Amino acid sequence: MAMNTKNKIAIATTSTMGLNGRGNTVYHYSAMYPHCLIAGRTGSGKSYAARSWIYNFLQAYPDAKLTLLDFKGEFGFSEGKRYYTMDRCFEGLEMFLKEMVDRQAVRTIPKTPWLLYIDELAALVTYLDKKNADLFRSRLSTIYMLSRSQNMFTLAGVQRADASTWTAGARDNLGLVMLLGELSKETCDMFSLDKSKLGACPYPGMGHVLVNGSPDSRMRIHTLPIQDMAKMERAIQEALN
Ligand SMILES: Nc1ncnc2c1ncn2[C@@H]1O[C@H](COP(=O)(O)OP(=O)(O)O)[C@@H](O)[C@H]1O
Ligand SMILES: [Mg+2]
Repeated sequence: MAMNTKNKIAIATTSTMGLNGRGNTVYHYSAMYPHCLIAGRTGSGKSYAARSWIYNFLQAYPDAKLTLLDFKGEFGFSEGKRYYTMDRCFEGLEMFLKEMVDRQAVRTIPKTPWLLYIDELAALVTYLDKKNADLFRSRLSTIYMLSRSQNMFTLAGVQRADASTWTAGARDNLGLVMLLGELSKETCDMFSLDKSKLGACPYPGMGHVLVNGSPDSRMRIHTLPIQDMAKMERAIQEALN
């Protein structure tokens, strides 16, 4: 797919100064990296980064749809058609998967871009009983494998990145990985990062981005500020309905 400004999604600026004295923008190309992750402790700025990322996605694809699994109900949207909290999150994943399967059956092009955002994915999987947790992991893995060709993408937020949240190998599908704040040992282990070399990230939104989960690609970043909160909330609410 050609890369033009239309499918560039700005997610952060690098901390390294560019020629203009400011950091360079870090972009996400959803066709290249259909499944992404944001990890960081409570208060590190995951949900804020997710809002900004989703909002920029919606600006890049104005007709896009959004499914939001907000396990803890912190986003506080009114129950939209595709907004799920707590016990309903499982149903939300199934609806997204069903849409993907339906899309596979029809050859119509173009297919509306569709983003699934799962906030607090690890907490959600831990909360489910064993049978449903296994089902959830395996459905997410199917989505990772097959949704890109249906123009469907995912982003998830977790406090600790731990392999047990995914089925074996599923995390290899993660394209851009945003790691915010001071990282836990588990997160460092999962991405083979040496904690002592990371440097401090004391403010919300400060962290690192890895490409394909590779420690060699690590960039220091600061997530983008949201210029107009009300406009962002409206855009997200609209994409949920
Ligand atoms: N890039 C940023 N710029 C300014 N404030 C931010 C930024 N990222 C996060 N914050 C603020 O930091 C606090 C924690 O962010 P939040 O996204 O709720 O964290 P988390 O989801 O990781 O627990 C919030 O008050 C949020 O508005
Ligand atoms: Mg949060």
